Amino acid sequence: MKNRLSLLGGLTVNQFLQEYWQKKPLLIRQAVPAFNGLLNPQQLISLACTDDVQARLVTQSRGKFALQHAPFEAGDFDALGKTKWTVLVQGVNHYLPEAAALLKRFAFIPHARLDDLMVSYAPKGGGVGPHFDSYDVFLLQGHGHRRWQISQQKDQTLVADAPLRILKDFRVEQEWVLAPGDMLYLPPHCAHNGIAEDDCMTYSIGFRTPAYQELAEQFLVYLQDRIAVSGMYADPDLETQKHPSEISAAMLRQTEQAINRVRWDQEDIANFLGCYLSEPKPHIFFDAPDRPLSQAKFRQAIQKRGVRLDLKSQMLCHTGWIFMNGEAHRVGKRDYSVLRALADERELPALEDCADAVSELLYQWYQDGYIVPN
Ligand code: SIN
Ligand code: CO
Repeated sequence: MKNRLSLLGGLTVNQFLQEYWQKKPLLIRQAVPAFNGLLNPQQLISLACTDDVQARLVTQSRGKFALQHAPFEAGDFDALGKTKWTVLVQGVNHYLPEAAALLKRFAFIPHARLDDLMVSYAPKGGGVGPHFDSYDVFLLQGHGHRRWQISQQKDQTLVADAPLRILKDFRVEQEWVLAPGDMLYLPPHCAHNGIAEDDCMTYSIGFRTPAYQELAEQFLVYLQDRIAVSGMYADPDLETQKHPSEISAAMLRQTEQAINRVRWDQEDIANFLGCYLSEPKPHIFFDAPDRPLSQAKFRQAIQKRGVRLDLKSQMLCHTGWIFMNGEAHRVGKRDYSVLRALADERELPALEDCADAVSELLYQWYQDGYIVPN
């Protein structure tokens, strides 16, 4: 990680991680030279009107914000007239190969932290108001210009009863106008406000930071299907009690001892984390191939041309475990390094000597629509 990256304004990845990541904002002029975006406003609006795509429309009138969620119809946008507005589409990398390619430039941050690529479009004056996110985000400017105002203020009080999270008292500390190819990195909880200076598209590469509460709750959900506690409640020495409605101290003690026998180890936690972080969001559906190749034909295809992940697939791994879209698979050492390469690069070149176990797993994923032969 010693190479200086123009994406990081000439910093090495290590310098960026040590000085800025999760610590302070960084403005990078011409992070992606000649970048003018991957889709035009009309294409983004069409995506916002597509089934199962997560999109929001934020409008502003006399300083008040309003929020609508997808599904949208093209007419919803025609009717906006002179209102200040912005449309924001999540998960654009699930629909556009060029967007997935853009995310690859950010692979110096582990995939387990990546959320998605959100793209916004706003005509002049549009924006979502001053707010903060619990994400690390790289805000890459596409077409047009956006004024970014930021503040590292401690006061994070929000406007009460607003449909969006708007900061009540936003005090601008720094501001810049970003042109196509410029990028602003913001750590979580850094207050920001982006205002379109003209017809403006912004690409937000977001990295999630799950709350401990969420991790703990979800771990308990994961554990409920896996715990094994033997034995049954027994009270051969039951004693009479004055109030039959009272739970006795003896009953409580016995239950406490049983619950204290619930155990988990690091492998359970790794397994939970891999499944949880690779789990697709609830609106994501995979398309199984209409007329799937036979297993033998599939094997020939991947031996000749290799295989790639479907744009919606999320794949992670940890010491012998492969996590594909929320499912865990234990694999042998050699197979692990092949599948880890697929997880790293989202594709594999021709797999000339593909082991049977790998080929079977890949075939299963192909039938589920998780991967496609090249
Ligand atoms: C936008 O693209 O308009 C908003 C991005 C953000 O503030 O998080
Ligand atoms: Co934000």
